[in-house]
Amino acid sequence: MSRHAAPAPPRREEPFDAVDVIRAKRDRQELSDEQIDWVVDAYTRDAVADEQMSALLMAILLNGMNRREISRWTTAMISSGERLDFSRLSRPTADKHSTGGVGDKITLPLAPLVAAHGVAVPQLSGRGLGHTGGTLDKLESIPGWRANLSNDEFFAQLEDVGAVICAAGTGLAPADKRLYALRDVTGTVEAIPLIASSIMSKKIAEGTGALVLDVKVGTGAFMKDIDSAGELARTMVDLGTDAGVTTVALLTDMSTPLGLTAGNALEVRESVEVLDGGGPPDVVELTLALAREMLAAAGKDDVDPADALKDGRAMDVWRRMISAQGGDPDADLPVAKQTHQVLAPAGGVLTRLDALSVGMAAWRLGAGRARKEDPVQAGAGVQMHVKPGALVRAGEPLMTLHTDTPERFERALASLEGAFDIAPEGARPDIGPLVIDRIAAQP
Ligand code: URA
Repeated sequence: MSRHAAPAPPRREEPFDAVDVIRAKRDRQELSDEQIDWVVDAYTRDAVADEQMSALLMAILLNGMNRREISRWTTAMISSGERLDFSRLSRPTADKHSTGGVGDKITLPLAPLVAAHGVAVPQLSGRGLGHTGGTLDKLESIPGWRANLSNDEFFAQLEDVGAVICAAGTGLAPADKRLYALRDVTGTVEAIPLIASSIMSKKIAEGTGALVLDVKVGTGAFMKDIDSAGELARTMVDLGTDAGVTTVALLTDMSTPLGLTAGNALEVRESVEVLDGGGPPDVVELTLALAREMLAAAGKDDVDPADALKDGRAMDVWRRMISAQGGDPDADLPVAKQTHQVLAPAGGVLTRLDALSVGMAAWRLGAGRARKEDPVQAGAGVQMHVKPGALVRAGEPLMTLHTDTPERFERALASLEGAFDIAPEGARPDIGPLVIDRIAAQP
């Protein structure tokens, strides 16, 4: 080291003291706009320490924030990075965000379906963590497909094909990345103001003109009950509306998995079936419900998206979308090396099949990751042969487990213990609607 070390940069005079901001929220006071702008910015430039931000996040979890505070917190996170602008595109834009669930492959058929109607879909997606799968992990099971695009490639594909599903760059809401990592290790993920601002800062920064939120509720979802899912949905719709984005939320059921597959290549195969005019009825129903909302929010409420699944237009966009990112839409998808069947212990009506248990089993089979740097197995996952409401015979297969590493079967089977109920024939399963509620901007 040189004897003449460079002088330390002069300490910037900070307008607030982090301890005062923490105390204010601890004592249930409202934070001012200036305090919020400062604390988010100061944290991203290391002028507020992790332990101070942790204390503030816990105070927010315990004491909440009002609409103005949440909106300002979101704006401060957006201002920490770049904001994309689609105004030079020749078509309107609409995006969808799901709060995550088991077997939730809806983005895959939905993006090309909406694009087939002249609305561009800029879908910046993530990888899976824990029991919910990630859209990028699913698409990466297609040989050659590439998740990372430059901004120029992203815009060019959006103009040319109309749909892009790719990784979000590091430039969008970088403050959220740091805050989310801190929330993960401080027990503060579950705060509705923090979840809503985290999701919406990225979606608003992404620049979409319209946004449809699929807020999942049930055992396989973040939000286990309708009241908290409704509060999250309302908070996000308000944030989008305040930011000038036409925003609508659907509350949808996640007590049982969506479709008949949970796992990367398994889900891609099922999505292609939907694009081919077939597929499980619940996946088709939700794809169409979200497509109608996205098209209406983008100003096209006079078309029926069901036609484009039947006549091949959505499939054409899918093939172009996959090819544009280096993927081969005709390539065989990976298949796991080993399978194991779960058989019905008795005959009767399947009255319950629990989403969380199936998601955990798929994760343990290798479809998901425990740490963000872990690899995933493309062929791993759970294939369901029946869904609640179906009649089964004793000894008939209920599920097939797929993995490359058979030592994983035991732990996957353990997570399926108590995952389903079979009642005597004639029993009525308690199946509610898939779309539970719709939340739009308040006039
Ligand atoms: N997804 C996000 O992006 N942020 C959260 O806080 C929760 C889910």
